[in-house]
Amino acid sequence: MNQFTPIILRWFAENGRSLPWRETHDPYAIWLSEVILQQTRIAQGMDYWQRFMQRWPTVEQLAAATEDEVLREWQGLGYYSRARNLHTAAKQIVAMGGFPKDFETIRTLKGVGDYTAAAIASIAFDLPYAVVDGNVYRVLARHFGIDTPINTTEGKKVFTALAQSLLPEKQASAFNQAMMDFGAIQCTPQSPRCIVCPLQQTCDALHTGRIETLPVKQRKTEVKTRRLTYVYVRCNGYTAIRRRPAGDIWQGLYEPWLTDDGPVPNGAILLRQNVQHLLTHRRLLADFYLWIVDKRPTLPDEYVWVKEAELDRYAKPRLVEILLESLPVQ
Ligand code: ADE
Ligand code: SF4
Repeated sequence: MNQFTPIILRWFAENGRSLPWRETHDPYAIWLSEVILQQTRIAQGMDYWQRFMQRWPTVEQLAAATEDEVLREWQGLGYYSRARNLHTAAKQIVAMGGFPKDFETIRTLKGVGDYTAAAIASIAFDLPYAVVDGNVYRVLARHFGIDTPINTTEGKKVFTALAQSLLPEKQASAFNQAMMDFGAIQCTPQSPRCIVCPLQQTCDALHTGRIETLPVKQRKTEVKTRRLTYVYVRCNGYTAIRRRPAGDIWQGLYEPWLTDDGPVPNGAILLRQNVQHLLTHRRLLADFYLWIVDKRPTLPDEYVWVKEAELDRYAKPRLVEILLESLPVQ
């Protein structure tokens, strides 16, 4: 029989933090606390939560506020997209006729992902959805000795399924918040308090000496830098572009002459240097030159001459658009 769940629940009854949003079942108040606490420590988040609840006690009132008012009340918390999403979702909720009461609908609210939806569903409505946040990953990885990297699809699957299997159907709210508090107070990232831990007898990490190494995080693949040198050739109202080939970034998009670290022609003027642009697996650093000529130079075959005034007909990578913005107008 799994003793993990009763031990965690018992620990929570004795050690759980008393927090103002734990005194209510109002889904709006709980949602607000979850959004604020996403990237904010409890001590700081508490003040903000109280001010928001005082100023906008209901979701209808929050929805009726202007975005500016919401952003100003959010000031100091950072990650302002959270505030914008909060406001958008408040309007969504009002349009729905009230706060949604099932996981799937809650999950459709702007800014609400799996974690927040599970937190609201369980804490406000006692629905059996396990939350999986950083605390949960850590506690489960250590106690059950799981070394699947937590920041992978597989990891998310494994830990979500395990958390769900441990969740007591009728005490979802207590279990989820117990896991949050246990991770924050007891099984902390550095120096967990194993000596006074009620789970020490069954904790795999403790017995195998892996407290420091669990949970496992997969190293992000190293981001390589790639240099690009563009020369924008200007010739009597025409410029040379090409369509990017298959098998590389930006397939099918258009770009000016890419010299690929060949020499830049004499007389070209440097407009921008080391413009940085991040792709998923690459860091690009681009230089951008303008070369004004009277006669069309010979370029590799794939380049075609198009009217400068018609450049906006061609789909271009964002980086190229940024570079083109630095061209002096004709
Ligand atoms: N962090 C995010 N949500 C929380 C909650 N409901 N209780 C404690 N810490 C949290
Ligand atoms: Fe965490 Fe230590 Fe308890 Fe294991 S024994 S659950 S590592 S605090």
